[in-house]
Amino acid sequence: MDVISVIRTKRDRGELSPEQIDWVIDAYTRGVVADEQMSALAMAILLNGMNRTEIARWTAAMIASGERMNFDALSRPTADKHSTGGVGDKITLPLAPLVAACGAAVPQLSGRGLGHTGGTLDKLESIPGWRALLSNEEMLNVLDTTGAVICAAGDGLAPADKKLYALRDVTGTVEAIPLIASSIMSKKIAEGTGSLVLDVKVGTGAFMKTIEDARELASTMVALGTDSGVKTVALLTDMSTPLGLTAGNALEVRESVEVLAGGGPQDVVDLTLALAREMLDAAGIKDADPEKALADGSAMDVWRRMIAAQGGDPDATLPVAREQHVVTAPQSGVLTRLDAYDIGVAAWRLGAGRARKEDPVQAGAGVELHAKPGDTVTAGQPLLTLHTDTPEKFEYALQTLGGSYDIAPAGTSFTANPIVLDRIA
Ligand code: URA
Repeated sequence: MDVISVIRTKRDRGELSPEQIDWVIDAYTRGVVADEQMSALAMAILLNGMNRTEIARWTAAMIASGERMNFDALSRPTADKHSTGGVGDKITLPLAPLVAACGAAVPQLSGRGLGHTGGTLDKLESIPGWRALLSNEEMLNVLDTTGAVICAAGDGLAPADKKLYALRDVTGTVEAIPLIASSIMSKKIAEGTGSLVLDVKVGTGAFMKTIEDARELASTMVALGTDSGVKTVALLTDMSTPLGLTAGNALEVRESVEVLAGGGPQDVVDLTLALAREMLDAAGIKDADPEKALADGSAMDVWRRMIAAQGGDPDATLPVAREQHVVTAPQSGVLTRLDAYDIGVAAWRLGAGRARKEDPVQAGAGVELHAKPGDTVTAGQPLLTLHTDTPEKFEYALQTLGGSYDIAPAGTSFTANPIVLDRIA
């Protein structure tokens, strides 16, 4: 087998054979295939695609590059959720303890933010003492004792994906649907969950800008999961405007705790409950009531135990940024657009996100929204509050916010997008 013939096959729009796929993934993981050769292959895949048979084999080869976890010893069925990433997407934080409170075990291996979308681990690390890095043994122990664990994926899980994702990130090949689907699903299948609910975001703040692309990604991932024996369902959800009223690490933890306390913004509550119902259904738990588990404090109890089991203090005061800047509404009327991508970029520029994997993030930085699309606003009222420890960043963040919202004359009728746009099972 030689790598140039594999690259030529895909460059010339051919179908990669199972042997070619197994060999190239293994050889790349071992360093026998060089980064520049894998970049050429990834670009050929981005341009010419892969069919479902190729994607399934590619995913299986990435799973085989590392270890597979197993939760069979747990007394509860396992249910996991994966979001393709958005702005203000803090849903994992209330969702994992909520689903655990309803009887499932939730092993939530999560990532850090890169670019304009936030990462679950960065958010939780704003809680003093909380640790994202756990050994497999520690992870199983937290899961077994509290019902939920949110932690970083270990190095042993799909190492081929870890290497390939870093390469795609710097070669303009992240956006290939076959590569996104196989990257996400290789980690989820290797993780060993029994059921999986995918939250595929659609809109300006998401990877997938159109509903057609989101459907293709979702149906590819659902097929990969189902064929591997993981009960998999996808919801396509709106990411044209940020979720909730905050984008930023500690700001989003605070909002998640509000949801667990029975309050919080309605869109965050609605999406948390919709995903919880799907996860419980996929795990075969029929008689649970997630709305009640939010209202009666049982989800909050699991949250507190889960945070404490990972070294965090659930009662600690969360970090607050040193400086604030308020953006006011320039005129009165109805807010008809507040763009998710622009708010995500502003939060990132204020210090909530990172440009390179090794960059630090500011726990208190981010953007707070005082109105959502559909709300009536009055000239001069606060629209956004920007938070940062480094006030020289305000101007840089404000550059991205100039065209980020529209205010129509008072009385203009406005219909918000539903939060759940479609379901693929
Ligand atoms: N998230 C992943 O894990 N992989 C991708 O390719 C894109 C998003």
